[in-house]
Amino acid sequence: MQTKPNQLLYLSQAEVANVGLTMAEIIESMKIMFRAKGEGRTEMPPKPGIHPGGGSSFLHAMPACIPDLNSAGIKWVSAFPDNPSKGLPYISGLVIFNDFATGLPLAVMDCVWITAKRTGAASAISARHLARAESSVMGMLGCGVQGRSHVEAMKVLFPLKKVLAYDLSEAARQQFAAEMSRQFDLEVVPVAAPREAVSGCDIVVTAGPMMKKPHATIQDGWLDEGAFASLVDYDSYWQPAAMHEVDKFCTDDRAQFQSTRQGGYFPDIPAVHADMGELATGQKPGRESAQERTMTANLGLALNDMAVAPLLDQKAREKGIGTWLNL
Ligand SMILES: NC(=O)c1ccc[n+]([C@@H]2O[C@H](COP(=O)([O-])OP(=O)(O)OC[C@H]3O[C@@H](n4cnc5c(N)ncnc54)[C@H](O)[C@@H]3O)[C@@H](O)[C@H]2O)c1
Repeated sequence: MQTKPNQLLYLSQAEVANVGLTMAEIIESMKIMFRAKGEGRTEMPPKPGIHPGGGSSFLHAMPACIPDLNSAGIKWVSAFPDNPSKGLPYISGLVIFNDFATGLPLAVMDCVWITAKRTGAASAISARHLARAESSVMGMLGCGVQGRSHVEAMKVLFPLKKVLAYDLSEAARQQFAAEMSRQFDLEVVPVAAPREAVSGCDIVVTAGPMMKKPHATIQDGWLDEGAFASLVDYDSYWQPAAMHEVDKFCTDDRAQFQSTRQGGYFPDIPAVHADMGELATGQKPGRESAQERTMTANLGLALNDMAVAPLLDQKAREKGIGTWLNL
């Protein structure tokens, strides 16, 4: 494995993707991280943000440390909702990965691929605790970057057979269905109404735009008994009455969830049953019956990114991928 004194490794967006890290490897690393988090062996201060673009755009600083994975670093990520209309990406940013023992910067890497994959992985790990193990039908609302990574991640942990795909854009759902069915050997059916991607599904994922004033399309009575839902776009898709129908409402980190609520999101939700650390260590039970409706709102943790960064750094060095830059 290559190391060079006084140099760091830069990995572009294409290089990060070309490292060849698999979703199964990401999930394994994140499981180690969630257990360590539940046992109090991680560090993750609340993320500070700045808001240069106005509206709901932001830049967040996301530092975290995971001693079990020799991982320390920070993600500096932006989300600018108006960018796609200008032909620019909604999410962009960088991860700085530091040497755990010396603090020296080891690598700087584009964060878009990492953000996409770790978010799908986090939902799948939540589902492992909260969904029925035999779940085979998935409803996907929002067929973009997250839609793709969620199908990939759920396929690693569940015997998925069918995906019902809804997107506001008909072209997006058609393209998603063609691409995902080919890539993952699944039946992927584009549907024209949101309810068709909720009722009748074992696993429901909402990943449309994040809105401070939710469009709240999903109503009570839509989510089946025994189903699990992951709210990747916060509470944007769900009416309060639909969220109050669930037996267990979870999140990835209680403190972060609390601070997000103080910012005006999730004004009317059920009590939080558990976070990912509590589920991973068994401090709180996951699913306890086939009938329960369960739900998680994972807001995205710096710990997720820092569970992926060391794997990318190591593989890139082994394969000779990236550009060396002087410190
Ligand atoms: N919780 C987390 O950790 C986390 C991390 C990254 C992204 N996100 C969130 O995930 C969501 C999706 O991100 P992305 O990168 O996949 O975006 P994207 O732009 O790639 O995809 C969004 C898709 O949603 C579609 N869409 C728009 N309105 C819709 C609606 N009402 N119903 C269904 N589909 C609709 C768009 O046509 C597009 O295809 C965003 O809200 C983003 O903020 C959350």
